[in-house]
Amino acid sequence: MPTPTPSESKPELYSPIGNLETPALLVDVDVMERNIDRYASMAEDNGVRLRSHAKTHKIPDIAHRQHTQSDGGGIVCQKLSEAEVMAASGLEDIYLSYQVVGDRKLDRLVHLSETVDRFATTVDGVGNIDPLAAAAERHDTSVRVILEIDIGLGRTGVEPGDTALQLAERIVDHPHLEFAGIMAYEAHVKWEAESEAEYETLCHEAMEETARTVRMIEDEGIPVDEVKVGGTATSPYSSRHPVVTEINPGQYAFNDVGEIEARQGPLGKKTAL
Ligand SMILES: Cc1ncc(COP(=O)(O)O)c(C=O)c1O
Repeated sequence: MPTPTPSESKPELYSPIGNLETPALLVDVDVMERNIDRYASMAEDNGVRLRSHAKTHKIPDIAHRQHTQSDGGGIVCQKLSEAEVMAASGLEDIYLSYQVVGDRKLDRLVHLSETVDRFATTVDGVGNIDPLAAAAERHDTSVRVILEIDIGLGRTGVEPGDTALQLAERIVDHPHLEFAGIMAYEAHVKWEAESEAEYETLCHEAMEETARTVRMIEDEGIPVDEVKVGGTATSPYSSRHPVVTEINPGQYAFNDVGEIEARQGPLGKKTAL
């Protein structure tokens, strides 16, 4: 029988290194588990939930480890298809941190939301709120929704303040949507901060901006149960702010080259995590 090619054989954990054909991506599982433990302890010390982002690896086995090591904190996915793969692997607590559009995808999203124990998705405008509400209504159900605000990255998210409040009210007015909270990804800090002190200051400012919007929404009688923030570089600082309930770092499991590059300079090895 011919020897199978790498694409024909299933990758195996703990197989002898001599059996590997190169190039191959290797993970030092001990180091990865130590990294996950460090962030789990940091989250616990700061009184927030660690819900790890799985977009970096997209591997259910690693997502299960992150979920277990964070005491059942759940996971985050950036794409609907990734969330479906994680759900199929048995993960029951999934947050989709990106805006989904298109009726077919929204039908899949509603189905996923029905399938797992706990699910939430992200919106940031009328253009994705109303079609999501319509999809939930088509399936005679409701979907938990997180409103993303843009606190500096300029990628996705609605402006904080009045505009965010108006969208929160719009979500609450839809009988098939449940307003569950706010997401604010302060990744701009990673590129702007050049010292640990600057990380502290910029993360604090970003969280103050988030808190201002949360207060405005709560002042209108809308509870903001969840406030999700944070990537690998910023979570240790942002999670100290009392407005934060949850952090969503992803790269921390590996601390890849991009992450290390962003921490060079004065921050360097001084970084606690
Ligand atoms: C919304 C959101 N939250 C969290 C993360 C995780 O950030 P990091 O990969 O820096 O840990 C990402 C990654 O891009 C993201 O897009």
